Amino acid sequence: MCGIVGCIGCENIVDYLIEGLKELEYRGYDSAGVAIKDKNEIKVIKAVGKLKNLEDKIKKVKFKKPKYGIGHTRWATHGKPTEINAHPHKGEFSAVVHNGIIENYQELKKKLKKDGVEFISQTDTEVIVKLFEANYKGDAKEAFKKTIKMLDGAYAILLITKKAPNAIFFAKKGSPLIVAKAENGFYFASSDAPLIGYANEAHYLEDDEWGWVDNEIHLYRDCEVISPYFKALPTNKESAKKGGFRFYMEKEIYEQFEVLKENTLGRNTKEGIKFEEVDKKFFEGINNIIISACGTSYHAGLVGKYLIERDAKIRVNVEVASELRYREPLLSQDTLFIVISQSGETADTLETLKMAKKAGLKTLALCNVDNSSIVREADKTILLRAGIEKGVASTKAFATQVMTLWMLSNYLANKNEYYAINEAIEVTKVDTSLHEKIKRLSKRYTKGHGFFYIGRDIFFPLALEGALKLKEISYIHAEGYPAGEMKHGPIALADPDLYVVALLSKNILFDKTKSNIEELVARDATVLTISSEYIEMTDDFIRINETNHPMVEFFEMMVITQLLAMEVAIRMGNDVDMPRNLAKSVTVE
Ligand code: F6R
Repeated sequence: MCGIVGCIGCENIVDYLIEGLKELEYRGYDSAGVAIKDKNEIKVIKAVGKLKNLEDKIKKVKFKKPKYGIGHTRWATHGKPTEINAHPHKGEFSAVVHNGIIENYQELKKKLKKDGVEFISQTDTEVIVKLFEANYKGDAKEAFKKTIKMLDGAYAILLITKKAPNAIFFAKKGSPLIVAKAENGFYFASSDAPLIGYANEAHYLEDDEWGWVDNEIHLYRDCEVISPYFKALPTNKESAKKGGFRFYMEKEIYEQFEVLKENTLGRNTKEGIKFEEVDKKFFEGINNIIISACGTSYHAGLVGKYLIERDAKIRVNVEVASELRYREPLLSQDTLFIVISQSGETADTLETLKMAKKAGLKTLALCNVDNSSIVREADKTILLRAGIEKGVASTKAFATQVMTLWMLSNYLANKNEYYAINEAIEVTKVDTSLHEKIKRLSKRYTKGHGFFYIGRDIFFPLALEGALKLKEISYIHAEGYPAGEMKHGPIALADPDLYVVALLSKNILFDKTKSNIEELVARDATVLTISSEYIEMTDDFIRINETNHPMVEFFEMMVITQLLAMEVAIRMGNDVDMPRNLAKSVTVE
């Protein structure tokens, strides 16, 4: 996730670009940059790291008469977070900012290179500006139209060029882009928040819309001219930052659908899984995998074990990093060491990574923050592309971790589950009526003496994660348990004040899990079942879509458990974004 801004015709161009990027910093902050048309020049200023660095650089630049400009804050997906890879990317007479991923950029780059075009960055975005300039034959509008037609993937693009003075070109497909109208000009942004205070109304661009603004907006869908639909912008900045949601956690739960699309873009293809970051050679000679992680990331690792062992037939051990680092484990050279971390800074996970490297193992990080300590240490990294996660309770990062492991297992097994993966993404789109139902249901689940989340197979780690979500934000005691293990002790706790969330898959061990639910019901526990198959005896029931793939069930149940934990915690009056005693990144032992 990256953030883009732009403006034309307004007094305060430089201020807006900086202030706008500050509002979008939550979408990524490994580097930032602006391109400003100043008299006859396009001035490009970029800086690595926090926006403050860019702001300081811009302050030193003398502008003569800035006319319009575009800006970008980056969350690396292709290429390291360096100044060269930062946006805007420049050609000879144009500059571009882009949010999204151009799937066919390698192919386009190859063709352009053949024609003698030179590239300096490792990004997919540079291709856009170079392609635009190659397509330019005297008419910038035609060149822009031709360019976007040649792009596959997702994008929100702003482009400026000396060949069309006083215009910003824009295009949107799959990534958000808003154009707002003010008295003297137009503003662009990836979300509402930057626009508040600068303009009162905005057109929320739809996929396949493109055009340019000069003194007015020229809007097209494909080749057809369309009219913009300007509607009032929200007025509350704080709530706009949360996308109108009550908490960042809620926003991030809703975002999972988009984030998973970004996570799988260019990786889940009809021809099978592709990881640009790691080629097959890297996995040669690997007979074992160790996954090391903490908390939620550890739970994702457990899902990975089920998937990789079943499909790729490679032995996987999943380790809690704080245990592994002091355990003096036996590390053999044919083992691939995988660390999973949202932040990339978790001390215990990092130490196990160093330990594995010292022992000469190949190491791979699944991480959300490029250039973090873990990414710098690992041999290879697959970025999660979840964007910044603000809620302390991890949701969208977990979704991308599990998805990446699923893709990795497909990759290692040479298995193609293209359609199932897309189906799984689809079910993470939150159904608001279901959310309302969970809100109502949550009332019943705020008392009692504790929760058990139960499931089998991949639904056992999901039970662990569901319980962790609940306890960290509601402060209610909750445990995740293998459904078949309840009778070996915990069932002694069953009474009407024991709440059980049963994850009942139609595809994996349905009858056996159902029997485990029966055993709890017979002992008067209060049971909420989540399944596509209705079972009578349960106190509450949430129906999920019918599917023949357990991972599709997994992702739908995941969203439900996240919403349930959040609604229980909100009912109890807790700040779900900042639960007591917890920090987002645990850099101490
Ligand atoms: C729980 C949560 C934590 C983290 C854990 C590891 O919601 O977020 O359990 O998963 O602290 O953090 P990372 O993934 O940053 O290494």
